[in-house]
Amino acid sequence: MKQKLEALELELRADLKKADSRDALEGIRIKYLGRKGHVMDLFQDMGKLSAEEKPKAGKGINRFKQLVQDGLKQRQVELGKLTKQKSLNKAGTFDITLPSVRRELGRLHPITLVIDEISSLFVEMGFQIVEGPEIETEYYNFEALNIPLEHPSREAFDTFYLDASHVLRSHTSPVQVRAMEKLKPPLRVLVPGKVYRPDAVDASHSFMFHQVEGLLVDENISMAHLKGFLSVFARKLFGEQTLSRFRPHFFPFTEPSVEVDVTCILCQGKGCRVCKGSGWLEILGAGMVHPRVLEAGKIDSSKYSGFAFGMGIERVAMLKYGIEDIRLFYENDLKFNRQFGG
Ligand code: PHE
Repeated sequence: MKQKLEALELELRADLKKADSRDALEGIRIKYLGRKGHVMDLFQDMGKLSAEEKPKAGKGINRFKQLVQDGLKQRQVELGKLTKQKSLNKAGTFDITLPSVRRELGRLHPITLVIDEISSLFVEMGFQIVEGPEIETEYYNFEALNIPLEHPSREAFDTFYLDASHVLRSHTSPVQVRAMEKLKPPLRVLVPGKVYRPDAVDASHSFMFHQVEGLLVDENISMAHLKGFLSVFARKLFGEQTLSRFRPHFFPFTEPSVEVDVTCILCQGKGCRVCKGSGWLEILGAGMVHPRVLEAGKIDSSKYSGFAFGMGIERVAMLKYGIEDIRLFYENDLKFNRQFGG
């Protein structure tokens, strides 16, 4: 019995040393402590011993049983430490061939890009950027711009009313008057911003869109200055080959008034689907500031004159980038937004 126990003890130590997983430890437990395990066998053998030998053998077997239990516990603790060390080693080293975590960079919206480009062209020509409120009074949106109540032209600037005297501005022109009230001539301002009109939404209309307004007031400003500034601007924005055409038009706040066309940037004036075969694209409205508007801005119209223009940003962006539906600007689809600029 004593020899048997000694042999089993050696075997147990070897088994424990080899065990490298929970499953292996469980195997050892079954092998020694299971119903058909070594300890059970030993107790059976003990039954065959004489009465004096039994107590000694019993003690030996119990000691061995304890040895198995302690050994399993100890090995389990060791294994836990080992696996922890292994995962630490793994985390401590890294694979330099793995692709890095991408950093998402933001992009400017195409409308912002066009506003920035137009702004910097006019800043080069001495204009300063100013902004005005989107919630506007009826006075600035209409009266001060020589659009009296009941005048049919109010319909052309169809408007969202907030209450009896406040509107969502239907154009950026009210900022002409606000700028004149604050700045004394000579003045050159450029006003980008949102405007609102209750239009049915389709591929080329939106209830909200962007305009940029320009205003220059000085002594002896004539239509020649208007044509000069706007032709240079068109060439800088659309390319040196671009021609400008000034067609007579009507706006209540300018006299005379014009609409300005540029050679179609898609067909270079040959005639295509976008310019409807004409070779020209309308890009803005302009004119010589009406004396009543100068007076509303507290500027002496006998001493000063000026020109003003207003342009739709979405239209320019659509032409520049070949975008066919205005609604794409407002859907916030990153697949669309990411295509433009740096
Ligand atoms: N405010 C006009 C519009 O929204 C554009 C314009 C501005 C025309 C300045 C002439 C002068 O259509």
